[in-house]
Amino acid sequence: MKLRQMMLGLFLTLSGTVMAQDYTVTVQTQKPGAEVQPTMYGIFFEDINFAADGGLYAELVKNRSFEFTPDHLMGWHAFGKVEICNDGPFERNPHYARLSSMGHGDWWTGLENEGFFGIGVERDKEYRFSVYARVPEGGTQMLRVQLVEPYTQEEHQEFASVDIKVTSSEWQKYTAVLKSRKTVDKAHLRLFLCNDDGRSGSGVMDVEHVSLFPVDTWMGHENGMRKDLAQALADMKPGVFRFPGGCIVEGVTLENRYNWKNSVGPVENRPLNKNRWESTFTYRYYPDYFQSYGLGFFEFFQLSEEIGSEPLPVLNVGMACQFQNWNDESAHAPATEAGLKEYIDDCLDLIEFANGAVETKWGKVRADMGHPAPFHLKLLAIGNEQWDEYYFKRVKIVADAVRKAHPEIKIIGTSGPNAEGGEFDRGWEAMKRQKADLVDEHFYRPISWFKNEWERYDLYDRTGPKVFAGEYACHDRGKKWNHAGASIYEAAFITGIERNADIVHMATYAPLFSHVDGWQWRPDMIWFDNLRVAKSASYWVQALFAQNKGTNVLPVSQTNFPKKGEDGVLASAVWDKNQQEVIVKLANTFEQPKTVKIQLNGLKVISEARVIKLDLSQYDLENTVDNPHAIEPKEDKVEALGGSNVISLTLPAKSFYVYKIK
Ligand code: AHR
Repeated sequence: MKLRQMMLGLFLTLSGTVMAQDYTVTVQTQKPGAEVQPTMYGIFFEDINFAADGGLYAELVKNRSFEFTPDHLMGWHAFGKVEICNDGPFERNPHYARLSSMGHGDWWTGLENEGFFGIGVERDKEYRFSVYARVPEGGTQMLRVQLVEPYTQEEHQEFASVDIKVTSSEWQKYTAVLKSRKTVDKAHLRLFLCNDDGRSGSGVMDVEHVSLFPVDTWMGHENGMRKDLAQALADMKPGVFRFPGGCIVEGVTLENRYNWKNSVGPVENRPLNKNRWESTFTYRYYPDYFQSYGLGFFEFFQLSEEIGSEPLPVLNVGMACQFQNWNDESAHAPATEAGLKEYIDDCLDLIEFANGAVETKWGKVRADMGHPAPFHLKLLAIGNEQWDEYYFKRVKIVADAVRKAHPEIKIIGTSGPNAEGGEFDRGWEAMKRQKADLVDEHFYRPISWFKNEWERYDLYDRTGPKVFAGEYACHDRGKKWNHAGASIYEAAFITGIERNADIVHMATYAPLFSHVDGWQWRPDMIWFDNLRVAKSASYWVQALFAQNKGTNVLPVSQTNFPKKGEDGVLASAVWDKNQQEVIVKLANTFEQPKTVKIQLNGLKVISEARVIKLDLSQYDLENTVDNPHAIEPKEDKVEALGGSNVISLTLPAKSFYVYKIK
């Protein structure tokens, strides 16, 4: 009996082996094909989820110019005698706070700022405080500036302090550096009106544009970005940088659209705009979500340059958000050349701002901001995520005008919010008629969609515009997670993007950033709180493609390519002529490990190979700010190459491997 059972077991094992699917990936290493565009695998920045103010933009004070509405003291706690006036020194931000004495040495007047979900500061680090101030009635008053931990049992809430003497009745900028004695993630900034002797003030002081930045920002810029977040972007080596959105380009109304002209020039005078994501989802409601434009177009162009990405601005086409103005033609600018003049000018002026000589109007603005050299803008998206005739008739007018003046600029149109269907097809047809250079496709889709689209770009028309996969992510379980279980499908799908580099010229995951206390949309690529950052599994997928994009596609054939709707082993390969490397990417979406053979035709012997492994097998696992390294790529040398041109391996369940072969 025992023997019979053993025989049966052996038979089952053997038949299992015979039946096992063979995954042979054959790469033609001597036949480099289409160029992988340098713009490949980029980033898309939108101020959603507190990605700009409270996020990448390192300003720590919320409502620094007292312009939030309807309450100009939003973000501030006022004590004593504080009033808001509106005849300040900055024309487009006219409000400021007037601090007046309470008339008794033990009664204090001042302001306390809560920051964005608190103010994150680190022990021994320096913070640059600045304020525009005056003493309108003359004399000398002192502003005591403190970093405080409001909720503490310790004797002192204050852990960094500096006194600033204000001596002029004219507006002047005052600065001071505070060194923090503590690490606190939700500190406040407290300001006291004092007399010269440090007692409660007996006079009046006006304060405006109250600002606090870490001294140590990305590249040391004073109006700078959070170093850890900008570094996370740079580390990816993104090929393109799309900004500033997204729906914020459109706005709830046209007045509310992102207006790039308001985002350049001195920061003190960049007018505030309500963030379009402030009230979009009432189940996550942020009445204090505004755009200071402190992170504006100059800063975006500069960041693109610093991280080596091609800048790709998106401008409004004369349309407010269609989701928020269904079929309402009157929500948009008239679809005539005259009606769209402002939007055409926005495009032409932006090209001048980015590329124009310093003698030109907008080139001078750029030069005055510290960048006389051009930014070499080559790409411009006209419209974000629009559809149907509302868009088609407007984009034609705007794009024709831009093309006429600047034939050197590549124009990107959109196929709307859907990745298939009538609206999407009509969008593509219109963009073909338009002769758009690229079409921006968006797909936030479930796992089942990704499984149906393995061959999406293999089957695309090669004669029309190129593809920009401008916003996409695998959304699982009601869009709630940023977990390994969804990211493996992104990796597998992107092998199809890579195989089709001749037609897909750019791809950017979305959204990019999310504050753990202030999100409206998820999943997102990078999560952060006031002091920490967590790069999601999706980040690592993107980074592995971007860092290993090579220079030319290599033809790949494989056995058992998955059918529509099925799990599979998916592969792509590129040649990197700079590194003289063949790079093969493999993703296994099955729940079982698979035996895979990589056959490198055209090579006699593989002498040296490395592999970077991303294990996405724990379905629910995600990187969080508390546990940021749960999912990370690991590099290994490939041993036992066996003196041939074949690598045999076991590709674990739900894993993504990048082989780099010299
Ligand atoms: O990425 C979030 C939003 O998704 C973008 O603002 C918009 O373009 C799309 O609908």
